[in-house]
Amino acid sequence: MALFSSSTRDLPQVAAVPAHVAVIMDGNGRWAKKRFLPRVAGHVKGVELVREMVRACLERGVRYLTLFAFSSENWRRPQEEVTLLMQLFVKALEQEVEKLHRNGVRLRVIGDLSRFEPRLQVLIRQAEESTAGNTSLDLTIAANYGGRWDIMQAVNRMALAQPDQAGRWSEADIEPYLSMNFAPEPDLFIRTGGEERISNFLLWQLAYTEFYFTPTLWPDFDTAEFGKAITSYQQRERRFGRTSEQLTGDSNA
Ligand code: IPE
Ligand code: IPE
Ligand code: MG
Repeated sequence: MALFSSSTRDLPQVAAVPAHVAVIMDGNGRWAKKRFLPRVAGHVKGVELVREMVRACLERGVRYLTLFAFSSENWRRPQEEVTLLMQLFVKALEQEVEKLHRNGVRLRVIGDLSRFEPRLQVLIRQAEESTAGNTSLDLTIAANYGGRWDIMQAVNRMALAQPDQAGRWSEADIEPYLSMNFAPEPDLFIRTGGEERISNFLLWQLAYTEFYFTPTLWPDFDTAEFGKAITSYQQRERRFGRTSEQLTGDSNA
């Protein structure tokens, strides 16, 4: 039996507060540019907003928060920016993990971590291990992550594990191999910064997720902005393929 219901095979429970929120934190560079600052200043400010977002999720009872921090395509950026982003990642792990732990947050990093320098890989492993027993909030950072990479690594691992099943695999077979196998599918997807695209984030898992796009740049996305996203989510009718009448139980409609 799968641990969580699937949006395509079952009818997931829908609550007023989304259980899982996934965010593309976009717009750091433009935020800095508007202030005649280097792009990295936007990333530094962005880390502060991550802190605020974690606090807001703990307060509201969101159980899973997944943040896109660095995509598999972001290596294409200028070397200087990539280096500074990696330094920022190291610094954030060194400075924040203790506090996350105190607040009952379990931290995970998903993505192809093999491309990161060894020191960063060690810090990630240590942070994951030290917070592994926490249950207030599951905070997942997607780093060197790509949705296509995720599906392919899952297919490859599944093929190695069950070669005799080739040609007969189903959705349920692949799900245990996906990076987010420990969480239900996201209820709410937020992208800040005005772009309305997925940019190779969680392709499999967003099948029935509610999307919220805002022009607000990530460094300006405070708890009030998050509240607007939640309110928008609460006004949606999640049908998962059914009719509206089926949901309201209105047999005359
Ligand atoms: C998102 O902000 C952070 C990362 C991709 C690391 P951007 O750096 O993409 O900011 P914009 O889109 O250039 O404003
Ligand atoms: C998506 O933002 C990735 C992250 C926020 C980490 P990008 O700024 O890289 O996305 P594109 O290039 O505009 O699609
Ligand atoms: Mg961007």
